[in-house]
Amino acid sequence: MAPIQGGVAVIVIEHPPVNSIGLDQRLHIAGQLEAAQRNAKVQAIVIAGAGQVFCAGADIAEFGTPRQVQEPTLRTLLACIEASPKPVVAAISGLALGGGLELALACHGRVAHASARVGLPEVTLGLIPGCGGTQRLPRLIGADAAVDLMLGGQAKCAHQLADSALFDRVTSGDVLQAACDHARALAAADKPFPRVGSRALDAQALRTALEMRRSKLTARQQLQPAFGALLDAVGAAALPLEDGLRKERELFVRLIDTPAARALRYQFRIERQAAKPLADMPAAARAVLRVAVIGAGTMGAGIAIAALDAGLAVLLLEQDEAALAQGRQRVLGHYRSRLAAGKIRASVAAQNEARLTATTDWARLREADLVIEAVYEDLAVKRQVFGRIDLHARAGAVLATNTSYLDVDAIASATSRPGDVLGLHFFSPAHVIKLLEVVRGSRTAPEVLATGMAFGSTLKKTPVLAANAFGFIGNRIYNAYRRQCEFMLEDGAWPEDVDAALEAFGFAMGPFAVADMSGLDIAWRMRKAQAAQRDPRERYVPILDWLCEAGRLGRKAAAGYYSYIDGRPVRSSDAIVRGLIEHASELRGVQRRSLPAQEILRRALLGMVNEALLLLEEGVASRAGDVDVFMVLGYGFPRWEGGPLYWAARQDRGQLARELDRLAQATGHGFTRGNLELLSQLA
Ligand code: COA
Repeated sequence: MAPIQGGVAVIVIEHPPVNSIGLDQRLHIAGQLEAAQRNAKVQAIVIAGAGQVFCAGADIAEFGTPRQVQEPTLRTLLACIEASPKPVVAAISGLALGGGLELALACHGRVAHASARVGLPEVTLGLIPGCGGTQRLPRLIGADAAVDLMLGGQAKCAHQLADSALFDRVTSGDVLQAACDHARALAAADKPFPRVGSRALDAQALRTALEMRRSKLTARQQLQPAFGALLDAVGAAALPLEDGLRKERELFVRLIDTPAARALRYQFRIERQAAKPLADMPAAARAVLRVAVIGAGTMGAGIAIAALDAGLAVLLLEQDEAALAQGRQRVLGHYRSRLAAGKIRASVAAQNEARLTATTDWARLREADLVIEAVYEDLAVKRQVFGRIDLHARAGAVLATNTSYLDVDAIASATSRPGDVLGLHFFSPAHVIKLLEVVRGSRTAPEVLATGMAFGSTLKKTPVLAANAFGFIGNRIYNAYRRQCEFMLEDGAWPEDVDAALEAFGFAMGPFAVADMSGLDIAWRMRKAQAAQRDPRERYVPILDWLCEAGRLGRKAAAGYYSYIDGRPVRSSDAIVRGLIEHASELRGVQRRSLPAQEILRRALLGMVNEALLLLEEGVASRAGDVDVFMVLGYGFPRWEGGPLYWAARQDRGQLARELDRLAQATGHGFTRGNLELLSQLA
């Protein structure tokens, strides 16, 4: 029996850690709801979540199992709530996501804490809300605002929605108390209490709004069936509720087993798995409250912002006052522009700024629990910096290098404490990209590694563990992929053909557009550094070097693989670039031919897959899922395709083997073939 507070029965959803609703919770809520109806002492009902969270939605672990469809289903339960003769109010604190928000929408009132975050993130799982969200939310807050929330898939803070009709009350005080008061008031009023489902929407206005939205779906959204289906479902919100719910259900059922939805569930799982420690890593991480970042360039400032956003104190260190002032400005400027755009509250900006200390005094490194070096990508420079860190950092501090390919052991050996050193490879912009490559040196102590992983989670990033080998996971795979794409230029494709084929598959950007955006000089510098060790028998495409020699360093120079007008690329390569490419083909003695988009795509993907298999065999990556998470979060691989290894595991193995033969031939000397058998573990 639910506890009764002044005539209000309080039903608590309790399923740690996030109160997701599975069969057991549905039975529990339905039972308590029924008991509350029968109890004459109960005038109204409040549904709340145990602990800090209201409810993170339907239990994803039940998806596709018989438990998901066993009565009472969530839809049945919500219908009972909406039809309840006694008013039901949701007391929303922490989170109300997916089915959690849908449950609240079926209630007759909603009271939220100002800090609660609410959303319908189903599209991120390749689905649409399946329990009335597409029908009730537009009825309550209007089609535009509802579609915004559902298409974006991101949770919004209740205080941002305080003016909408979503909540009857937003409070900074005791949300349960406020919800009970509201429930009592509904019961005492001598008018019928509000039922969202009985509201009506203007059919014509809805149609117009949705047509506009459909025409604005991005190419990536159009590649995923859930986005179009979402608009179709909202389109049914002008029908009577029962008909709209039926249409929503039909669309939901059609989506649940699509390849995209399966791949997105896989990504959900492996992202969380990647952050978990391996068996040989003790759970005990060292405490990190104060972080020092050495180097206040774009990367250093981004890392500082990420740490400040996570509530940590940050010491930003530069070698001279001018560079320090610029770096400090980068961080403060970020908060000012977020504030001006209404993305954060003034109090949050002020708190974050107050936790930043900028200094040129190396002795202050002793205050830090974690020191992150983010200086120029050069081994000698980094070794020198680590020698200095060693002089000042306190005993027990974790020392991290932000490098994307350098030897972490060589950096660690510049200190007297290599066990405290690890790699933390951030991706630019460091405060945005949700990936952190945590690199284990040969002498990194297990608790130092655990600290790196925990630090990634503190920053709300997915930490992925890599062993110390040139390029680690990310750059090894990306270089292999880019190399195949460069071979295709010599074989007959133009940059725009390659980019278009990969973008049509769903990559956020093709490899040549990415190269231009990052600046070709980064790769040029790396190539020059490696020139002496390069085996002359290996196939080497000189086009990038020639572009750089001609000053075409990418977008920042308004010319790279593409030319740029007002910062926007002209997406067909110009005569100079074509001339260079043709010259490269000539030097290699290749008869240029046009490459079909499908061939381009599969060759590029196979380049990635082959390298990923090698990384697994070599133990640089510990789990196949880690590679897939990496490529999605770090390199724009379409999430709904699951990642390169997930994709490969679903292809015909014989065809892959034949294509790998051709890849070996195209690559020539030095090609190492990955073991396709490893894909069986993933199929
Ligand atoms: N169903 C089942 N399990 C869920 C869940 C759900 N809806 N939401 C989260 N979990 C589990 C996670 O798998 C994780 O389990 P684990 O500890 O065994 O790995 C645990 O809850 C904690 O989640 P995590 O994501 O690690 O914590 P967080 O604090 O970073 O984020 C959420 C919490 C709720 C924001 C995040 O998990 C999330 O977005 N969940 C999905 C919500 C959703 O899409 N709901 C609609 C479903 S249709």
